[in-house]
Amino acid sequence: MTTTFQVPDIEASRLPALLEAMPKAELHMHIEGSLEPEMIFRLAQRNGVKLSYASVEELRKAYAFTDLQSFLDIYYAGASVLLTEQDFYDMARAYLDRAVADNVVRSEMFFDPQTHTERGVAMETVINGLHRACVDAEREQGISAALILCFLRHLSEDSALQTLEAALPFRDRFIGVGLDSSEVGNPPEKFARVFARCRELGLHLVAHAGEEGPPEYVWSALDVLHVERVDHGVQSVRDPALMQRLAKDRIALTVCPLSNEKLCVFPRLADHNIRQLLDAGLVATVNSDDPAYFGGYMNTNFTRLFAEAPGLTARHAYQLAFNSLEASFAERADKERWQQQLRSVFEKA
Ligand code: HPA
Ligand code: ZN
Repeated sequence: MTTTFQVPDIEASRLPALLEAMPKAELHMHIEGSLEPEMIFRLAQRNGVKLSYASVEELRKAYAFTDLQSFLDIYYAGASVLLTEQDFYDMARAYLDRAVADNVVRSEMFFDPQTHTERGVAMETVINGLHRACVDAEREQGISAALILCFLRHLSEDSALQTLEAALPFRDRFIGVGLDSSEVGNPPEKFARVFARCRELGLHLVAHAGEEGPPEYVWSALDVLHVERVDHGVQSVRDPALMQRLAKDRIALTVCPLSNEKLCVFPRLADHNIRQLLDAGLVATVNSDDPAYFGGYMNTNFTRLFAEAPGLTARHAYQLAFNSLEASFAERADKERWQQQLRSVFEKA
């Protein structure tokens, strides 16, 4: 579905307030990537975990990344402080509070169980803590929150299959599966069997592809894994036939501007290709990826992108928010209610 709403002309000076106020869905955020340095130190102390950084400041200084792998090494070290169900709960509640402040009405949060089960943390501990946070935030703050289990692609497919089996007793607590971690050298087809099994189980399917990896990885995410959305996908612009396919099948791309800048996928935010994706008719969305590491949550992603990338207008803003709601895995009635709210925010602007 595309919008038929005629977006009014809005002065550039009024765009930031509108970007902040518009209801939006976040579809690409790794909950372990929402661990702020202060919380890493607090949990390390609570759990008696030794960190290789002396202070919050020293840890923050290490956040100077050159590529995806240089980030992942620090991200997995940060996640080592998570041990108890309460830790997972506290992390997710802190993120959901920030999301509510940014007018996120729906969040589909990635989690990486293997990062924790490999350290001896039980699957049950991870899923129950995160799930309880979703339920409480929904009841107390009205945000709609759901979980997507991600397989780590640097590990084997057998490990992913075992992870799926361990998670199946909690099948009602996550809505889908994804694929993350080191992309280049770990193509989607490495996970063909586990995704086929997830498809049979009726889980939603997404995968990171075309962040650093080539357009071929986006093709195989679509044709081998049968994903419903592509996470990142920004390398798709290198392949016109792929662009046409993504537009025709209305496959959403969950784009993460500040992440792409911090991991040097684009030299500067000003060089980001999101306007090209939108203008080609693709269902692009804006997301924060790992907000504690990349310099901001949802609204900062929107406001910095619109301030720095040339040519983005109120019409693009509306389209990005509309796309995020449409591409979410929420109920149709919820999507339509949020899209109506979006429209009224723009009508009053
Ligand atoms: N890419 C791949 N894996 C990840 C990312 C990402 O941006 N963030 C957390 N895990
Ligand atoms: Zn990601």
